[in-house]
Amino acid sequence: MSNDKISVALFGFGCVGQGLYDVLNHSEVLQANIAKICVKDRNKERKIGAENFTFEKNDILNRKDLDVVVEMINDTKEAFEIVSTAMKNGINVVSASKKMLAEYFEELYKLQEENKVALIYEGSAGGSIPIIRTLEEYYDNELLSSIRGILNGTTNYILTRMELESKDYGDVLKDAQESGFAEIDPWLDVAGFDTLYKTCLLAVHAFGVVLKPDQVLNLGIQNISFDDIRYAREKGLRIKLIGSAAKQGDKYRVFVMPRFVNKEDELYKILYEYNGVEVEGAFSCKQTFTGKGAGSHPTGSAVLSDISALTYRYKYAYKKLKKQRARLNGNYNAENLLDTDFAIKVYIRYTDKKELDALDIRNVVEEYRSPGVNFIIAEVGFKSLYALKGNRESKVFVCAVE
Ligand code: HSE
Repeated sequence: MSNDKISVALFGFGCVGQGLYDVLNHSEVLQANIAKICVKDRNKERKIGAENFTFEKNDILNRKDLDVVVEMINDTKEAFEIVSTAMKNGINVVSASKKMLAEYFEELYKLQEENKVALIYEGSAGGSIPIIRTLEEYYDNELLSSIRGILNGTTNYILTRMELESKDYGDVLKDAQESGFAEIDPWLDVAGFDTLYKTCLLAVHAFGVVLKPDQVLNLGIQNISFDDIRYAREKGLRIKLIGSAAKQGDKYRVFVMPRFVNKEDELYKILYEYNGVEVEGAFSCKQTFTGKGAGSHPTGSAVLSDISALTYRYKYAYKKLKKQRARLNGNYNAENLLDTDFAIKVYIRYTDKKELDALDIRNVVEEYRSPGVNFIIAEVGFKSLYALKGNRESKVFVCAVE
């Protein structure tokens, strides 16, 4: 790869792809030639000429003159096919597909080792915040104790506008979709799956912990109402959807859940589509990183930075992952990495008490009932909350009380 002009091919020309195209055209340092862009829809009108596009993935994957393949498509399986083929062909890859990266992490890690190629993915978590490389490089030797963050722009945008502008959930979600923040399937945003994928990726780079998304609890804000916002406001709190990973003895507590945060919490101040990540280390103490977490140009800029990093042969060293594997010596699995054996204090708003049957409620601290709103604050066995993960039937709203 020459530093003068690198040859890049793109898969996908949606929100992130177009953002990358723009930032690439404004970059004064990185000189890249976009060899071809592979897209799916033949009939869509696009802002650049048809000669830039192909509809056939092998037009790109069979080329021998490429330095980098950038994958930014929505279809998870197809994205994995493309990324793995490119890597097997010896091409370095940049990806922004958090779901694909989290779900196929083990396979992708192996492909990097076997084919001696780089796969980097800064745009997949935290939007424009350079968090993955920070965890990987800056904190490579620091003993981190926890990482927690607002990692989804859409839900933070919804929560902010509901609270500050008294806007209706459905209307604001629609605005988030129109602004290009939301996923094509917004359930992934509101039910906490997008935050889950990003949290899984951050756990790899913070702690060397690889977990499958289906092993990690994610609860979302899909059932939130103004009653919850009002309750928080009366107590001087805000509700934030937070993905966290924290060291607990030899294991890690990793989950995604709405949480009440107070004014002293750095994440309290993160509004609209901004993301914020707080990293806590034994010696560095708390540090918070903030920036736009969604949108075409912010995410495009993270992808551009990855392309640029490849020009100086950057790849993740995965030092912490290698260390954890050596420590667990053949027993590297969720059972030995993930701590789910604890109770957590949560606020639960419900309509019918039957909705609480599946939960292991151990100690009710506060109870409120009225004709319109019922809630309890209770210590709940963490494992029992998995009954609500991705559960479209359940209408309860659960929020961790810190
Ligand atoms: N839907 C995602 C979000 C896009 O709202 O954060 C950026 O990953």
